[in-house]
Amino acid sequence: MIGLGAVTRNIHLPAYRTLSDKLEIVAGCDTDPAARLTAKDKFGVPAVFEDARKMIMETAPDIVSVCTPPAFHVEQSLLALEYGCHVFCEKPVAETLADADKLVRSAAEAERHIVVNNQFPYMNIHRAAKERIGTPEFGKLLFLQASQIFHPDEVTEADWRGLLRRRLCFEFGVHVFSLVRYFFDDEPIAISAQMPNPLSKFRSDALNLITLEFADGRAASIVLNRLSNARERYLDMRLDGEYASVHTSIGGEIRFEAGLHTRQKRPFVGFSFVKGGKAVIENGTRSRVIAKDGINPFASSTAYHFNNFIDSIRNGNTPQGTVADNRKTLALVFAAYDSAETRNPVYLKDLEPAEGRTELSVSEGAAIAS
Ligand SMILES: NC(=O)c1ccc[n+]([C@@H]2O[C@H](COP(=O)([O-])OP(=O)(O)OC[C@H]3O[C@@H](n4cnc5c(N)ncnc54)[C@H](O)[C@@H]3O)[C@@H](O)[C@H]2O)c1
Repeated sequence: MIGLGAVTRNIHLPAYRTLSDKLEIVAGCDTDPAARLTAKDKFGVPAVFEDARKMIMETAPDIVSVCTPPAFHVEQSLLALEYGCHVFCEKPVAETLADADKLVRSAAEAERHIVVNNQFPYMNIHRAAKERIGTPEFGKLLFLQASQIFHPDEVTEADWRGLLRRRLCFEFGVHVFSLVRYFFDDEPIAISAQMPNPLSKFRSDALNLITLEFADGRAASIVLNRLSNARERYLDMRLDGEYASVHTSIGGEIRFEAGLHTRQKRPFVGFSFVKGGKAVIENGTRSRVIAKDGINPFASSTAYHFNNFIDSIRNGNTPQGTVADNRKTLALVFAAYDSAETRNPVYLKDLEPAEGRTELSVSEGAAIAS
């Protein structure tokens, strides 16, 4: 593991522990001595290093997990490939599409995989929602609405996060885009975004209003809101199908509810106990829980993703979530920023890598689109 910060402690290490029959943690490295000490003494990482190259040379791992801030992902993934390792890289995998393309090419040349940890599709609630799509109960997915209310503070905006100007869509929105691609099983043709910033308490974008359109008329709408003082909702999504809707939400709750379905003039009562998230299928006033997640859905879904990765390496298959696939998710992030800056929709085929155009930069993408 390169980087022994929060994501390693709270997500990777708990995930890896559940895979101990297939995976052995050999070492971790971090430039921060305190992070190394905590990893060794509190989290039982067997060997810690200051330098990533030294760690890889001395421990010769099969897979290197890159868990540092985004600015280091490309350089450290390339380093791991240089030593013949597969790479499990945290999101966002790169800061430009040109860098993502470089990783795609380098992984192919090294005959190794780079898999990106956009793990949200592998949460129980999202897998259960996906399984409903195409069933007689749900029908075709027509529209998806996603929203987040999150209260940023000095802790959440500390260090490198606080320095990002493009933070919300780049660092969090990338998960939502990966879910949109997962559920629609198609690539959007156009994206429009507004990113107003009426109160710039922090450096970064605080409000993302995004619309995605698909060729067959389907659509998705995403509202990421870090201005609201309302109750936090980490990620709520509603998938509207032909015959029913599925509502997913990440986060725990214990809730009693009682009320009146006004149109039907019928009272209702309900009780819900959820540790990490739930998915509910709804049809008018009828609803049924179809899945729940445990206390740490971020770790359990990372474990699911990593397990697939190991199986694919062993079986010689292409794993899910490779950098080549993830580039399409990342393209949506940059297209959203381009759309917001140019005040124009961005047409996504212009951002696909093409012969002789692999070094396309984000700003060139904007120019083409506008
Ligand atoms: N997939 C998810 O659900 C999820 C959740 C949280 C964070 N993340 C991602 O994980 C990455 C890390 O986030 P975090 O919250 O752990 O950040 P963090 O700041 O808590 O930890 C980053 C660690 O990397 C170390 N580091 C920095 N430069 C280094 C270098 N050159 N070599 C070695 N170590 C170095 C730092 O000292 C720090 O300990 C980010 O890309 C973030 O977006 C993903």
